[in-house]
Amino acid sequence: MTATALLLYFEDEHESALRLAGAAALVSAPIGRHRFPDGEFKLRLPASLPESVVLLRTLEHPNEKLVELLLAARTARELGARHLTLVAPYLAYMRQDVAFLPGEAVSQRIVGRFLADLFDAVITVDPHLHRIATLREAIPVPHAIALTGAALLADLIAGRRQRPLLVGPDAESAQWVAQAAARHGFDHAVCRKVRHGDRDVEIELPPVNVAGRAVVLLDDVASTGQTLASAARLLLAARAASVDVAVTHALFAGDALQVILDAGVGEVWSTDCISHSSNAVSVAPLIAAALSGITH
Ligand code: R5P
Repeated sequence: MTATALLLYFEDEHESALRLAGAAALVSAPIGRHRFPDGEFKLRLPASLPESVVLLRTLEHPNEKLVELLLAARTARELGARHLTLVAPYLAYMRQDVAFLPGEAVSQRIVGRFLADLFDAVITVDPHLHRIATLREAIPVPHAIALTGAALLADLIAGRRQRPLLVGPDAESAQWVAQAAARHGFDHAVCRKVRHGDRDVEIELPPVNVAGRAVVLLDDVASTGQTLASAARLLLAARAASVDVAVTHALFAGDALQVILDAGVGEVWSTDCISHSSNAVSVAPLIAAALSGITH
């Protein structure tokens, strides 16, 4: 990434953009956005752009944002950008990675290729890659960089809880739980989960003694909160001394945060990949380091 690269952002991500611009020593500029009465958008970028442009857009509530990316990326090329990097701290549509039923769209592959057509590089944090090993398999661009918030969350937990037991609520979380635990030598274990519907999950605790332990549930995403709430209820019933939650992506759809707190969870911590009141650590330095490693 050249020192003259410009960071473009949308006004609703002004604060995240300032943090990233500061950490990466980039000049930043907002993209103007007008919504017409019928819902269409008109975007306005700076009239001329440097060769290297970084576009920040975290992709929670992704549907309209994907259209914004299409308009912004194509316009940036017309205005002089030759190397276009998307920084999407949360990357949407990664969970549907196979057709579970005949006829289902494999969203991960489709959205991945859509982004690959627009950008030369994509940087994200803890994408939900379960059945594939690398982000590049989902988004075939020269630089497909998947960072992890596990170390940040591990450091945060180390500062807040004595001898915690990290628990992942399902098999997919094992990758993040293992990384976070290894960093500080925490005990760790992973539950089994069967999903019956959007808000209907069945959790089975791992065969470890949680009685008297300060348990921290660690996952990539909390969406409806049902996964974490179910796990928390079981852990408290098994006499855990406390249950807190640490997630990379604070999606928290609807009343999810309340659902989690009502289950007896003490504190909820998240990274600032998605702006939320639970944000406790910033991924900006991590993303800045990744940007500095991209050479066009
Ligand atoms: C899926 O495996 C993810 O890692 C999360 O566990 C899941 O998306 C959480 O969803 P919810 O909060 O709706 O239970």
